[in-house]
Amino acid sequence: MRELISARAIQQGVAQLAQHINHYYQDKPLTLLGVMTGSLVLVADVIRQLEIPLRVGVIQARSYRGPSTEPGDLDIWDSYLPDVQGRHVLVLDDIFDTGRTLAALQQRLQRLEPASLRFAVLLRKKGRQQVDLEPDYVVFEIPDVFVVGYGLDYQDMYRQLDYVAALEPEDLQALEEC
Ligand code: IMP
Ligand code: MG
Repeated sequence: MRELISARAIQQGVAQLAQHINHYYQDKPLTLLGVMTGSLVLVADVIRQLEIPLRVGVIQARSYRGPSTEPGDLDIWDSYLPDVQGRHVLVLDDIFDTGRTLAALQQRLQRLEPASLRFAVLLRKKGRQQVDLEPDYVVFEIPDVFVVGYGLDYQDMYRQLDYVAALEPEDLQALEEC
């Protein structure tokens, strides 16, 4: 595994994102929605730096299945979603890859008539996007490699790392063997 973004760089980037949110939503009561499970760590770090009236909720999306590093069909569960009608909603996700997840969430959430709907992500993979939507805030642009850490997983492993690392083909092979 190769470290791509250090814990220190992530903390600096996340602090800037929190500053941006504090400023942008100072007079717009915010509902922040974390896309589970990948945004778990990001949400925890961001919300503790917010100094504005805030509601926090989660929405679950999944597009990776089993040992594949390519996206499969997309499932969205919104059973635990707080009421977002008339609220300013910011969706936080770990990574913008093909963009299909956030585009689907945009469609789903728009129907619930929020006052505004924006998207922020920790990472954006270059050259992978398949949708028109672009996130309103990107903390880091990364090359087209499969990454883990800081909430991002491979088969639910490595979410606990405080840095982001590229998982290399030999790592995947070693994991298959254990
Ligand atoms: P998208 O719908 O293709 O934009 O993919 C979004 C979701 O796929 C993200 O929320 C992640 O959970 C997952 N994903 C995409 N790329 C990676 C990666 O490199 N490592 C781990 N998960 C990823
Ligand atoms: Mg995700």
